[in-house]
Amino acid sequence: MLFVLILFSAGCLFAQAPDSVAGRAAFESHCMVCHGSDGNGGEHAPSVLPAVAAKTDAELNAIIVDGVAAKGMPGFKQLPEAERVALVDYMRVLQQHERRRRGFQSTRLKVKLTDGTQMEGLAISKTRRDLALRTADQRLQLLRKAPGDTHRRVTSQADWTSMHGGLDGNR
Ligand code: HEC
Repeated sequence: MLFVLILFSAGCLFAQAPDSVAGRAAFESHCMVCHGSDGNGGEHAPSVLPAVAAKTDAELNAIIVDGVAAKGMPGFKQLPEAERVALVDYMRVLQQHERRRRGFQSTRLKVKLTDGTQMEGLAISKTRRDLALRTADQRLQLLRKAPGDTHRRVTSQADWTSMHGGLDGNR
């Protein structure tokens, strides 16, 4: 489970790679007005994300060029190919963000421990039995549900997620 989380956070760093900047700019100037800033739907059009998940790059490119006349989406024939490619890449980034967001949203939690103390931190993962909290000292605390709405400490370790970020920042 932790490994998956580490991969996810590595993915976040990549998602901010420079090439997505061009795609983002293009999306914001041509598409956001209808599809919303995160592609998830706006006042004038629904989310593009299901189509992005279901279609190939070539199909998405064709939608950008031709539009969806029957439903009121204009074609963008004038856009240079490089910009269309960047747009398709950027929509894939948006779609991945959305998937991650739906999978798990980290929130701040305060829980009661079996020894009567309390622990507060950012919930990194949560299942029916287990909870991983990142506490202010940057340690990852693994807790297991115990009776009476309490949690029992399982292990505590240096938080590889944030170490990863730290190493990256030092490059
Ligand atoms: C004037 C509003 C408008 C603008 C601007 C617009 N769209 Fe759309 N778009 C729509 C509508 C309306 C639909 C049809 C939704 C539906 O199927 O009901 C749509 C559908 C889509 C779909 C899904 C098509 C399918 O077959 O399901 C994609 C992908 C898409 N738009 C991408 C884009 C991109 C990329 C841009 C910017 C280059 C853009 N749109 C700009 C209104 C717009």
